[in-house]
Amino acid sequence: MAEEAVLGFLQTKEHISDSHEFAASIGVSHTELENLIKSLKGFQIVDAQEITRESWVLTEEGKTYMVNGSPEALFFSAIPPEGISRSNLKEKLGAEIFDIGSKAAAKNKWITFEKDLVKRKVESVQDEVKNVLARINSGEAVGDQVINDLKRRKLIIKQTWKGYSLKKGPKYVSKRKKPETDLTREHIVSGDWKNLEFKEYNLNAEAPQIQAGYLHSLLEVREQIQNIFLEMGFEEMPTNNFVESSFWNFDALFQPQQHPARDSHDTFFLETPASTQNLPEDYLGRVKLVHESGGYGSKGYGYDWKREEAEKNLLRTHTTAVSTRMLYALAQQDTFTPKRYYSIDRVFRNEAVDRTHLAEFHQIEGLICDRGLTLGDLIGVLEDFFSRLGMSKLRFKPAYNPYTEPSMEIFSYHDGLQKWVEVGNSGMFRPEMLLPMGLPEDVNVIAWGLSLERPTMILYGISNIRDLFGPKVDFNLIKSNPICRLGL
Ligand code: PHE
Repeated sequence: MAEEAVLGFLQTKEHISDSHEFAASIGVSHTELENLIKSLKGFQIVDAQEITRESWVLTEEGKTYMVNGSPEALFFSAIPPEGISRSNLKEKLGAEIFDIGSKAAAKNKWITFEKDLVKRKVESVQDEVKNVLARINSGEAVGDQVINDLKRRKLIIKQTWKGYSLKKGPKYVSKRKKPETDLTREHIVSGDWKNLEFKEYNLNAEAPQIQAGYLHSLLEVREQIQNIFLEMGFEEMPTNNFVESSFWNFDALFQPQQHPARDSHDTFFLETPASTQNLPEDYLGRVKLVHESGGYGSKGYGYDWKREEAEKNLLRTHTTAVSTRMLYALAQQDTFTPKRYYSIDRVFRNEAVDRTHLAEFHQIEGLICDRGLTLGDLIGVLEDFFSRLGMSKLRFKPAYNPYTEPSMEIFSYHDGLQKWVEVGNSGMFRPEMLLPMGLPEDVNVIAWGLSLERPTMILYGISNIRDLFGPKVDFNLIKSNPICRLGL
């Protein structure tokens, strides 16, 4: 309807000078007309020029005077021919009308004051203020002097309108064909397409949000790291058992039974089944010996090793328990084959939960087992691995693990945070761990571990680990995560 009106008007007239007036004249809202103008402009059917129009509108006070009359006129009319006392008049008119009206009426020289008496000075008056307010209200233009007076009295206020002036555009038509949005087989076969108008592509239109499945940030980073391991020729270790025995989690790693990490304050022990029965007897005997009295050039720890302690079941505290099982399995083969293993899976620690700690997290672990490996190999492999993650500036700091010697903490310089951050732990597995398994003496194992959460938090700028993992995770965070990130 509005479209016909606009196009029809422009057919005979040069232009529509003000979209507001035009909208009012055809009885549609300006918003509706504006949307139409934008669409017609997009197709170059009309040329639209933005205009701003200023107009004066009455304030609430102005509206009251337009209806009831100005205070000065009310004041004048309330004075009887013989005059009236101030107090009576005030009572009649109310304090506000009395105050405003007396001043304005006096200024107009309509009235005089004789002592306490108020008297008319002229026969009759015209309420010009009331009249001019009505004229402004109906859109009439009035002189500057009058406008200034009314503005000063706060009876009118200026309003600016944004609107359009319109004229025919280069593709003006008096009646618009509905543009086609799709070119179909039928259009081509029938030859229709020659006479049709097609809607242009709007490359600025926003695409709809796809409501599909989204990968959690941890899974995104896990895949990225998994790909790095695969590119470097690593095989994945089976980490699908969260429950482990103390034997594989600690004892086989030459971690003494009095070690504080084996306390229930640090480790979750299982109530049922509380202990494991299946441990390899021969190997168990050699592990007991190496703890008690050493061997392979070691003095051992010199304490009474208890089988019951090793049999205690727990939620694994690191995936190094799995690495140990894999190395033991490797040692049972007739001939030794070098291996590169990795895993990324969940581990559990009995920790107080805070901004950076949870009682469960994901551990990334890599190890290489071969003859004659050195600390230099470990450093080289770490530099390769971490630079593929975008962390090429590395520093190492001597550290301690019961199962590695030497051990190194790994730090990387983070350009975004502008500081060195600890990114992992590493070392060469001790002979006290490898030789009881039956691995050849010249075989060394270099290994490292890190958490998956740490780099993910840095990557996604998350400062509280509870925003990343657990029941407080916001789904919108996962939905709006970038698919692709550059650098770590
Ligand atoms: N198990 C270690 C940890 O939990 C990581 C590690 C793995 C360290 C391998 C050295 C070698 O922190």
